[in-house]
Amino acid sequence: MTRVIVSLTIFLALLGIAASVEHLLASEHYNAGFDEHPVPSRIHVILGALYLGLALVQFAGEVRRRWPGFHRVAGRVAVVAGVGAGITALVIAAWFPFGGTPELVITGPFALLFGYALARGLWLARRRRFAEHREWMIRAMAVGTSISTMRLIFVPALISFGGQEEVARWLSLVCFGIAFVIHSTVAELWIRSTRSGDGRAPEVVPRPLFRDLGRQVEAE
Ligand code: HEM
Repeated sequence: MTRVIVSLTIFLALLGIAASVEHLLASEHYNAGFDEHPVPSRIHVILGALYLGLALVQFAGEVRRRWPGFHRVAGRVAVVAGVGAGITALVIAAWFPFGGTPELVITGPFALLFGYALARGLWLARRRRFAEHREWMIRAMAVGTSISTMRLIFVPALISFGGQEEVARWLSLVCFGIAFVIHSTVAELWIRSTRSGDGRAPEVVPRPLFRDLGRQVEAE
């Protein structure tokens, strides 16, 4: 199961980075607001991609064990980037949402959860409460990678519903909601199934790159 979760997380994170690169290279966007107000949109996708790239490295247990100083510095950069991506998501959803006014209602709570999970995760790490730190960073990653799952659901759904713009507007909101709920649910189940009975993550032996997404490392 760990292998499936890790592979999916890597795939979705890379897809999110690819979507950001595509957004930056595209001359026109489905949401005209992106072209009228390029600054918040570009800041959002650049910080989002930076967060996902760094977060992938942060979950690699081997990297944390060999270069703990890098983990601490990169972690702070990832938190700042993620919080920035969350704030700009709120700006876009409030200012020029493709899905209209309900977009803020659907994406807003998850943008806040994303920022809160990152801030709480950092706060816990500074207090050396690493088991809880791991859990909040998994919650943040679950929301961050859900934007890729949203696209994987949205594109085939839009094709099957006929592809008109009006349909795309409400369908994008439905897909945002479905992806957020699926990811947050899987993250909670995963956190609970990898936590020991006393609420702390179990002690384990060192394991290869990324496998620590499934277990807390004692060495921390
Ligand atoms: C963390 C990594 C993230 C990345 C890489 C990312 C990437 C992107 C990209 C590329 C777009 C532009 C859409 C496109 O051109 O296809 C976008 C738009 C958007 N993102 Fe994110 N995003 C991230 C996190 C979030 C989070 C956490 C939220 C909120 C919970 C969010 C909410 C939004 C919203 C509301 C839009 C505008 C949709 C619209 O109205 O057209 N994003 N994001």
